[in-house]
Amino acid sequence: MTVQATLPPRVRLAGFCLRMQAVNIVPVRPLRLSVFYSRILLAAGALPAFAETVSFSRHIAPVLAFHCNGCHDEAAPLSTQTRDRLQQGGSLGPAVVPGDPERSPLIHYLEGRRGEARRMPLGEPALPAEVIARFRDWIAGGAADDAPEPPLVLARRVRREGPLIEISIRVPVTAYLTLKLLDGTRLLHQESRAVKRRNDRMGSGLVADWVRFPLTAGTGWPLEFEARFEIRFSGPEASRAEIRP
Ligand code: HEC
Repeated sequence: MTVQATLPPRVRLAGFCLRMQAVNIVPVRPLRLSVFYSRILLAAGALPAFAETVSFSRHIAPVLAFHCNGCHDEAAPLSTQTRDRLQQGGSLGPAVVPGDPERSPLIHYLEGRRGEARRMPLGEPALPAEVIARFRDWIAGGAADDAPEPPLVLARRVRREGPLIEISIRVPVTAYLTLKLLDGTRLLHQESRAVKRRNDRMGSGLVADWVRFPLTAGTGWPLEFEARFEIRFSGPEASRAEIRP
């Protein structure tokens, strides 16, 4: 069964209402329309009892983190780091048109409709059909953001001798790491890396290997600061991660 089939009607309705508004077919208030429509569905017994809504933080963000963020970082024309940045889009305008997967460049690129050479993720095998279906369902349902689960945080104080610093971490499972260097509440530096299994194509770190972050101190960096790793999209085993120095 595809995710489409398990989506609660309310979510599909939201997309339906948005489309109705966009083309202005009937001047009906969306709320009334959706109440009306869900009554019909109820009467038809069409409401699935345990349907799961596609969640940005649980279903979409991890795929973006492992397959897209490495290229589409904050410096790229299109950033895939957050839901809002996707909406903000790249050279083609918004990558996501809430309620309308057909008009969302994100879907065109995932499905290879802009040419096979531009299918995303670039240089990697296509995402599985059911994963692309989830992206479609998420956009059809309004492409809502939601609160991310808090990351696992590992922090330590680091003292540098000169301008060159190397901070490393070893994680026993696949994970998405964000390293933040902090002087009190002041953010000195931030960068993210995906840690993957050996035969995965992308990712700049490997499970069970030391992942190195070589850095050069910027002007005004103190000699001592905090190195904080935020670990996302991994199981509880990630708490066995080790940090160096
Ligand atoms: C290896 C680097 C790389 C990876 C990985 C990658 N992309 Fe891209 N992406 C590019 C490049 C380069 C372009 C510009 C290509 C072009 O349009 O000719 C691009 C363009 C795009 C565009 C069009 C943006 C615009 O408005 O110009 C979208 C949407 C997109 N990528 C989505 C994704 C998604 C979603 C993923 C992950 C599933 C992904 N990309 C993974 C390199 C990458």
